[in-house]
Amino acid sequence: MSRIFSGIQPTGNLHLGNYLGAIRNWVRMQDAHECIFSVVDLHAITVAQDPATLRRGIHEMTAALIAAGLDPERCVLFPQSRVRVHAELAWVLMCTARVGWLNRMTQFKEKSGKDREGASVGLYTYPVLQAADILAYKATHVPVGEDQKQHLELARDIAIKFNNDMGVELFPPPEPVIEGPATRVMSLRDGSSKMSKSDPSDQSRINLTDDADTIAAKVKRAKTDPDALPSEAAGLAGRPEAANLVNLMAALTDRSIADVLAEFGGKGFGAFKPALAEVMVTRLAPITSRFNELKNDDVAIEAICARGAERARAIAEPVLAEVHRAVGFVA
Ligand code: TYM
Repeated sequence: MSRIFSGIQPTGNLHLGNYLGAIRNWVRMQDAHECIFSVVDLHAITVAQDPATLRRGIHEMTAALIAAGLDPERCVLFPQSRVRVHAELAWVLMCTARVGWLNRMTQFKEKSGKDREGASVGLYTYPVLQAADILAYKATHVPVGEDQKQHLELARDIAIKFNNDMGVELFPPPEPVIEGPATRVMSLRDGSSKMSKSDPSDQSRINLTDDADTIAAKVKRAKTDPDALPSEAAGLAGRPEAANLVNLMAALTDRSIADVLAEFGGKGFGAFKPALAEVMVTRLAPITSRFNELKNDDVAIEAICARGAERARAIAEPVLAEVHRAVGFVA
């Protein structure tokens, strides 16, 4: 039986990339596996956050995940900072990970930009905390989008090195699960960069909380090229924006790209975009309305967070005790 762990940062809105790349798989997995999902607020503070906005973000991300289909009865759902094991285990694993390994992490280079010297130390060690998140539960599988692949390879390397160094079989090396037709959803404004919560342009993404008119307007304004859609997938090569929109249609309607092109090949974006917007609205409307119901129910969300954290601690604390024994802290 596999144990699943994954996390999402509580910064900004849950968007279509998060949903199609990861959350949809989380929802599917909760029936067949033991699942643990965390709103990773410790990761969020690796860049500056306003405390009140962060507090609201943790609450709203929890509500959004439930609205998207996570059931706190069938999975463990909790804010990361309420389980101290994450930070404590991260310290031990920082002594396992090598500086050379972290120096190869591309996301640090992207996120720190030109001011590398001014980036927080937390941003640099971020992937070690991510490894601790996974290993604290001895998770075997981690469902994520493609952008997390390198971090998961690092988590595997850390698990294997820890086991070797200490002469134990403590951590199962976790396997990434990067699955489905939309593991890398691109920005609506630029087909060469991924859809992201941190993109300053809200036009670049579809938020799960956008209403029908906003979705229609964003799809209408999405960047495209002047050509009609091809009738075969090979014709999308070199057309990243067109490929992204076709891919979104395929993912949202559970069809193959070939199927979508069989319907829309030869048609222009004037015909394709309204159809895509309609599919998005139909798929997202139930999530949006459930989110709107839940987000102001502070008492219910708080109870879910408290209970989730308690269940998470019950799994992670014995693992940390094993780690302490393995490194020589306790008899
Ligand atoms: P985060 O918060 O950036 O994203 C949450 C999940 O959404 C996926 N995702 C995408 N998938 C497809 N297309 C996109 N445009 C897109 N954008 C985001 C991400 O791959 C991710 O699965 N470091 C992680 C959070 C994390 C974590 C963990 C994940 C912390 N600890 C332990 C797994 C295991 C992050 O920042 O995800």
